[in-house]
Amino acid sequence: MSTLTRARSAELFERACSLTPGGVHSNVRLASPPVFFERGSGAWLYDTDGHDYVDYLLGQGPNFLGHAPPSVTEAVAREMRRGSVFGAQHVLENQAGELLLDSLGWADKVRFGVTGTETDQAALRLARAATGRTKFVRCGGAYHGWLDNVLSTTVDGQSEPASAGQLPHHLQDSYVVPFNDAAALDTVLTEHDDIAAVIVEPVMCNTGVIPPVPGYLENVRRLCDQRGVVLIFDEVITGFRLALGGAAERFGVTPDLAVYGKAMAGGWPVAALAGKASLMDMLAGAVTHAGTFNSSIPACAAVIASLSLLREHPPYAGVEAHGSKLMESIEKLAARHGVPLRIQGLPAAFHVSFGDSEVIHDHTGLAKLDLAGYAEFAKTLANHGVWVAPRGVWYVSAAHGDDELRAATERIDAALASHAER
Ligand SMILES: Cc1ncc(COP(=O)(O)O)c(C=O)c1O
Repeated sequence: MSTLTRARSAELFERACSLTPGGVHSNVRLASPPVFFERGSGAWLYDTDGHDYVDYLLGQGPNFLGHAPPSVTEAVAREMRRGSVFGAQHVLENQAGELLLDSLGWADKVRFGVTGTETDQAALRLARAATGRTKFVRCGGAYHGWLDNVLSTTVDGQSEPASAGQLPHHLQDSYVVPFNDAAALDTVLTEHDDIAAVIVEPVMCNTGVIPPVPGYLENVRRLCDQRGVVLIFDEVITGFRLALGGAAERFGVTPDLAVYGKAMAGGWPVAALAGKASLMDMLAGAVTHAGTFNSSIPACAAVIASLSLLREHPPYAGVEAHGSKLMESIEKLAARHGVPLRIQGLPAAFHVSFGDSEVIHDHTGLAKLDLAGYAEFAKTLANHGVWVAPRGVWYVSAAHGDDELRAATERIDAALASHAER
């Protein structure tokens, strides 16, 4: 397959740059090549120049059922005839809530929101209200959205604002510890009595897709219990993806609160805060959580249709099988072309980059990887019809099957050949 050319995308991008900063509506997209897509279907994307792409970016994760999954699309289209938002309750809310809580198994109550960013803030506020304490602990390299108290980068071992205009003092509301280091967490919790919550991505999907080492999440749970600290799992990526009950089910550790998004609604913008009734019930009055678009009709229809599909036809074994075969193919192809690609993570979400092949266990290991070099290679992959995130994470969907594996393997082979030539 020769390198793709995209005259129409180039025209559209030029126009977009005159309309919106950088030509994109989310800064995360600035790193991707400027391709304009017409549509997505299953595991495929189709651009405006007539090219198709095997998609392993999945819209940064939400399209776990593939693009435009028929049962979700039909349910949303049908239910939208009722309207969109009423600023009041509607008949789909209870069913969406029941399905979600029943799927999780451990949580008593749920509140729907729209994005992971704001729902993480709701969880932190609730933890502060419940404990009367002000600070929280997060892990270096974790992503909990783009707001001032959680968006950071590490400079000389210190957590610094990652964006101009960010209020640096908001980062002082948290203590940062390395992921997979229960001893460091123990120390912080021992030294400070103002900690309301520990928020953790159970798998660090935003940082090299780092799984928890055996016993880590159990230790985090134990330490939180010992100090009366609220444990929040940020399952925005892992939820409904690693198992129906997310990382909590997969690793057998139950948080007090958890935040969901992405995979739970077949590509629709829905997030959820779930948790123990003793905490969640504070939202019935003392603690404010609001949002005009929370639990809209399309959102609830999407949740009901997606969770019904995930429960009736669990895709998890198929996703794991596809991911495992794909990881193996990438490793073999890279070795054959003499390209030092390294892979780590789970089959449903894994990380590819250049650099030291040693497994990394926390964000400091990222320094050993050539992330910029990989971001360039992601463009080469796009030029050969494989759409991936420049930051290295690959997501597998329920729609990826043998045809996609075959196409992806051929295309990755061609991209590696082109990379090796240079
Ligand atoms: C773990 C995690 N938490 C929170 C967020 C923020 O979610 P959203 O982009 O919906 O605001 C993300 C987004 O990628 C995420 O990966």
